[in-house]
Amino acid sequence: MTALQSKNCGRLEGLARIPGDKSISHRSLMFGALTVGETIISGLLEGEDVLHTAQAMRQLGATIDKGSDGLWRIYGAGIGGLQQPDSPLEMGNSGTSTRLLIGLVGGHNISATFTGDASLSKRPMKRVMDPLEMMGATFEATDGDKLPLTVTGPEDLLAIEYELPVASAQVKSAVLLAGLNARGTTTVIENKPTRDHTEKMLQHFGVEVDVEDLGDGKSAISVKGHQTLQPGAIDVPSDPSSAAFPAVAALLLEGSEIALPNIALSDRRNGLYLTLEEMGASIEICNPRIQAGEQVADLIVRGTGPLKGIDVDPARVPSMIDEFPVLAMAAACAKGTTRMTGLEELRVKESDRLLMVANGLKACGVDLEMGEDSLTIHGNGKPPQGGAMIETALDHRIAMSFLVLGTVTPEFITVDDGAPIQTSFPTFVPLMNELGCYLGAVDG
Ligand code: S3P
Repeated sequence: MTALQSKNCGRLEGLARIPGDKSISHRSLMFGALTVGETIISGLLEGEDVLHTAQAMRQLGATIDKGSDGLWRIYGAGIGGLQQPDSPLEMGNSGTSTRLLIGLVGGHNISATFTGDASLSKRPMKRVMDPLEMMGATFEATDGDKLPLTVTGPEDLLAIEYELPVASAQVKSAVLLAGLNARGTTTVIENKPTRDHTEKMLQHFGVEVDVEDLGDGKSAISVKGHQTLQPGAIDVPSDPSSAAFPAVAALLLEGSEIALPNIALSDRRNGLYLTLEEMGASIEICNPRIQAGEQVADLIVRGTGPLKGIDVDPARVPSMIDEFPVLAMAAACAKGTTRMTGLEELRVKESDRLLMVANGLKACGVDLEMGEDSLTIHGNGKPPQGGAMIETALDHRIAMSFLVLGTVTPEFITVDDGAPIQTSFPTFVPLMNELGCYLGAVDG
């Protein structure tokens, strides 16, 4: 374990080039491997999670290389062309790699075993096993639905209609990816809008994906099997979930002004930014544009004084599902009470994020109440005391969130393990320090 410390610093200033979006990076490698021909990716996130996807796709038969020009090139074997891997697919910490690849493998007549680290091995896989079993896949899983897990795809895959029991883009994607190799049309019904990178990227690769608006945020997403993915180019925009860390730090440090160019910012990913604006944040969204089917914009974030506590709209949860830990840091410094509800999914992320955030904030002197699926934080418009050692439980976002809080607390904040940051944001420490933070190893 590598402990990291964050010390109170002055205002932040400068240009923050955030690495590529994790969700889009995973999908560009997977979908590139389903084309026949060459797919070229620029801006790929080279974090450990995405590198696990790349390695798994190689084991499944794709050729994937990074050139000296920094571009990634993929040569796939087409839908139906995945090969049976001759060793387990090691997924590290990555739930997205695991759940999407279970869909992909379960949709082919091959078997693969998935393994992962201690965090991933605790995460539930029943949510992807259930629909895949309906399609004909079979499973052998540890403790019923945990890794190590082996999936075997059937000879004849059934197309299904499946209503998601949880708002999860991972489950939606797993079913659609399996459906690509089914005879007939597979439909996923989602009751709340979740990130739609799978739908958009499949369309970018020439696949017909039908999205029917059923009203009230509900939609039916259908894909006919055995279509051809046309190889193409993907320019991966920067990750709004990673940009959230310097953005919140800049908001907490009065007088700061930072620019965050090229951020993927659709209405499926912008919940944190809308929420921060409601709390009084100054976030300027410039040059909105479309890039490889994705909405992208440049952000300028200014620290203009204390934020105010609000009730966060629970309908917004899926569009900011990964951002609650860092939002909680902002709430801890805001004036007034911030109420967050509908957070049950936070219990099954890389850690039990509700618990890890609540424990860490309490140790820093914050007044809060945690419920089964809610968190209420009482701020007084000033940073809490800090001075705590935070348990990160192999969770990159817990580590980065508390390091952000440490930029404003009077006493240092230390996270017990900074290594998981490598899964999603390998340049986090130097990038934050370049903006003016003091993050580093623990003082002797
Ligand atoms: C992701 C979906 C979300 C998110 C995860 C990435 C994706 O998970 O938390 O970090 O790329 O599809 P769920 O689908 O489980 O909500």
